[in-house]
Amino acid sequence: MNICIIGSGHVGLVTGACFADLGNKVICVDNDEEKIGKLQRGMMPIYEPGLEELVKRNKKEGRLYFSSGLKGGVRKSEIIFIAVGTPPRDNGEADLSYVEHVSREIALSMPSYRLIVEKSTVPVNTGEWVEHTIKVFNSRNVRFDVASNPEFLREGSAIEDFMHPDRIVIGVKSKRARDLLVELYKPLKAPIVVTDIKSAELIKHASNSFLAAKISFINAVANICDMVGADLVEVSTGMGLDKMIGKEFLNAGIGFGGSCFPKDLSAFVKIAERCGYDFGILKEVEKVNEYQKRMVVKKIEGLLWNLSKKTIGILGIAFKPDTDDIRSAPSLEIISMLKREGVRVKIYDPEAMDKAKRALAKEGISSFGKNAGIEFCKDAYAVSKDSDCLIIATEWNEFKELDFKKIKKLMRQPVIVDGRNIYDPEELQKLGFRYLGIGRR
Ligand code: UGA
Repeated sequence: MNICIIGSGHVGLVTGACFADLGNKVICVDNDEEKIGKLQRGMMPIYEPGLEELVKRNKKEGRLYFSSGLKGGVRKSEIIFIAVGTPPRDNGEADLSYVEHVSREIALSMPSYRLIVEKSTVPVNTGEWVEHTIKVFNSRNVRFDVASNPEFLREGSAIEDFMHPDRIVIGVKSKRARDLLVELYKPLKAPIVVTDIKSAELIKHASNSFLAAKISFINAVANICDMVGADLVEVSTGMGLDKMIGKEFLNAGIGFGGSCFPKDLSAFVKIAERCGYDFGILKEVEKVNEYQKRMVVKKIEGLLWNLSKKTIGILGIAFKPDTDDIRSAPSLEIISMLKREGVRVKIYDPEAMDKAKRALAKEGISSFGKNAGIEFCKDAYAVSKDSDCLIIATEWNEFKELDFKKIKKLMRQPVIVDGRNIYDPEELQKLGFRYLGIGRR
C-alpha cells in the first residue's frame, strides 16, 4: 500500500519504518526541514534500538522516503496517518492545534478518496473534529474516511512492540476504512479490535492511565513497605503471580516520566472534567508520582544529614533505559531539588548526555545562575569519585554490572539510594555500603 505518515517524531518514524519493512511504500513527512534533511542522510533524530538499521535498509530498498512536502505525500498515498505532537497546554489539556492544521492541509491536498488515520494520542472526540475540519476545507467534495488507530509503542522497545503487538485497535465508521486497515495490519497476525472511533480514542487514554495507576499503586505499597520493614520485591512477586494482576508494571521506583504517561494522565483528567466527572483516582495517581521524587531526597537526607555542599552522583537521566528521551524524567526534578539544597551534582547517562546538557543549561541559567555546578561525567566511576551518595535514577543494564569494590574506594561516603531497585540490598550492605532501595528491606 502507499502510506503517508505526517510527523516524524518517535511514533511517526517508528511506524513509518515498520510499515515500510512490511512491504509498503511509505513517505514520512515533517515540516522540520533540518530533521528531514538528516533523515535523508540516514541520521536519526532519536535513539531507539534498531531504528537506524531499519530506516537505512528500507530507504535503500526504495520503500521509505522522507519529505517536508505534505501535499506530495498526500497525493501519492491512499492512507494518511497523523502522527504529529499533541503537547500539553498549561492547563493540562492536549494542544490539538497541529492536528487541526494538518487536517486542513490534507483536505486541501487530497485528489481522490483518502483514509485519514489518527495515530497521535488524542482526547476522545478528536476524530469528530478532524472529520469536521476536513469537511469544511474539502471544497472539491473528495470522498474520505477518518479512523483512529492508537499506538502502543514503548520507547526503547518500539520496533518490537510494533512488530509483535498484543493487540491492534482500529476505530472506524465505514467498511472501506475497516477493510483497508485490516489489510494493512494483516502481516502482523495480531488480534485486531475493531470499534467505533470514540471507543478507540478512549482505549488509548484508559490504557495509559491504567498502567500509570498500576505504577503509583505499587509505589504507594513500597512506601508502606519502607515504614513497616517489609520487602516490596517479595510483595510485588507475590501479587504479580496472580494472572488477574500480572507481574508487569509492578516495579516500584522514583516515579514514571516520559512524553506519554504524565501528559496523557492530565489530559484524561481534563477530558473527564469537561464531561462533568471528577476522575479523582487519576489525580491521586499524579500525587503519588510527585511524592516519589520528594521521597528520594528525604531518603538521602536521612542518610547524609545536611545536604548543603555535599556531592551527589546521579546514574541515569533518561526517563527509562534504552532511550535518550528525558522529557518529564524524574531525574531532572530530583536534580532541581538537590540544587535548591546546595548540593554539587554529578551526572552520567549512556545515551542522554547531550539532551541533558541542553535541558540543564537552560534550567541552570534561569534557576541557579550561570554556575549551575552540574558536572557531566564520562561514566559511572567518574560520577562516583568523591561523591557522598549515588542515586540510581534509570535502570540501564550497564549500571547492573558495576565494580562496587572500585566504586567504594572512589566515593567519599559509600551510600547508595537505588531508585529503581536494581541491586540486591544484602550484597551491597556486605560490601560496606549504606544502601536504601524503594520499599526494600
Ligand atoms: C507508554 C506505554 O507503555 C505504551 O504502551 C504507550 O504506547 C506509550 O506510553 C505512548 O503512549 O506512546 P513509554 O512511556 O514509552 O510507553 O514507556 P513505559 O515502558 O510504559 O514506561 C513509562 C514510565 O513508567 C517510565 O518512566 C518507567 O520507568 C515507569 N515504570 C514503568 C515504572 O516506574 N515501573 C514499572 O513497573 C513500569
